[in-house]
Amino acid sequence: MLSVHQMNTFSPQDVAFAHGEGAWLFTTDGRKILDGLAGIAVNGVGHAHPRLVKAIADQAGKIIHSSNLVNIPEQAALADKICVLSNMDNVFFGNSGAEANECAIKLARLYGHQRGIANPQIIVMERAWHGRTLATLAASGSRKAQAGFEPLVTGFIRVPYNDIAAISSIAEHNGDVVAVLVEVLQGEGGIYQARADYLRELRKLCTDKQWLMMIDEVQSGIGRTGKWFAHQWAGIVPDVMTLAKGLGSGLPIGACVARGAAANVFKPGNHGTTFGAGPLVSVAALTTLAIMEDENLLDNATKMGTLIKAEFATSLSGMASIKEIRGMGLMLGIELDRPCAEVVKIALDHGVFINVTHDNVIRLLPPLTINAADARELVMRVSAAIKIFLATLPATSSAAQVNQSPLKNFEAAAD
Ligand SMILES: Cc1ncc(COP(=O)(O)O)c(C=O)c1O
Repeated sequence: MLSVHQMNTFSPQDVAFAHGEGAWLFTTDGRKILDGLAGIAVNGVGHAHPRLVKAIADQAGKIIHSSNLVNIPEQAALADKICVLSNMDNVFFGNSGAEANECAIKLARLYGHQRGIANPQIIVMERAWHGRTLATLAASGSRKAQAGFEPLVTGFIRVPYNDIAAISSIAEHNGDVVAVLVEVLQGEGGIYQARADYLRELRKLCTDKQWLMMIDEVQSGIGRTGKWFAHQWAGIVPDVMTLAKGLGSGLPIGACVARGAAANVFKPGNHGTTFGAGPLVSVAALTTLAIMEDENLLDNATKMGTLIKAEFATSLSGMASIKEIRGMGLMLGIELDRPCAEVVKIALDHGVFINVTHDNVIRLLPPLTINAADARELVMRVSAAIKIFLATLPATSSAAQVNQSPLKNFEAAAD
């Protein structure tokens, strides 16, 4: 329940977590809940990891913040590490996913201006999600989120996801394009995945046209899909990549990573931030990456993802209401044939915390540390919740509720 003094932007579940341990959360009223969401892809190394807790506590006792007006050795080490993992050249650090993308958008515009393009355009995708600042909101593909915030920032051209022909035809006619911004897996958009051949063709097109290929890995990065960054499954390297969520394990951080020409666009005065990757946050991120390496969490994400998908295929088999079980590693979606927001509460009552996105997709983003026993438990509890939901809420009643939404007509018209 929100206090009257909290702005009315979220409708939280009626639960609060007092502490966590690994893949488990403990509520303030003493219940033990399996974490199927990891703070929306943030707590990759699980809750209260002793090594992370110690590193943060030790650093907090030394210096928390100093500002980007001085050298920050911990930030420099983090930038070096991210560039090694990504095969890219340099990093700007902010405080969130939206800020990382805001930085990428500014970088692309400046890149265009430096090449004599006065009205630079960025190609973005249907169903995309890049954040809620004014520019990232305009880049996102959700009319629901954009509604009421017009005039939207201009300079974006929207195309269908996974459609290289749509982008090629723009390439033929529009000399103002400077970049393409794309998610490898659309998280908020419903766990839809870019095909590897699409990403490779896009890479080639961007190189040919001297466009920046900008990949938003805010949700899919930092090991979530079983590689450090999801685009690595396609064997490509982007010009710009954005990160946030899992990088700081809950301490706020965003990163805009660049390579080649993109790495030389900004000069002092072009961009900045007070907080970005101060000593405390940088130590949290460095320790997160070290834990992931030492505990083989990329492999674990792949193995547990495969296990969870296989177990769901069995436990939900033959159910006509289940349209698809999809995703990579531990970024998974179960699409139902009807809106299913109510399943979150039912799942919580069954001791598992999950989320529904895009109206009818149950989203699972458990900690990357989850073990096989907990993964099976997750499937059992979520499957039970889905079955109860489907038994108690027939398609028509749930669909009718959604149609009453005041935004529904607007969304339909805008789409
Ligand atoms: C792919 C992607 N990009 C950007 C964002 C925005 O990140 P933040 O909420 O940290 O601003 C999100 C958040 O869900 C995301 O999933």
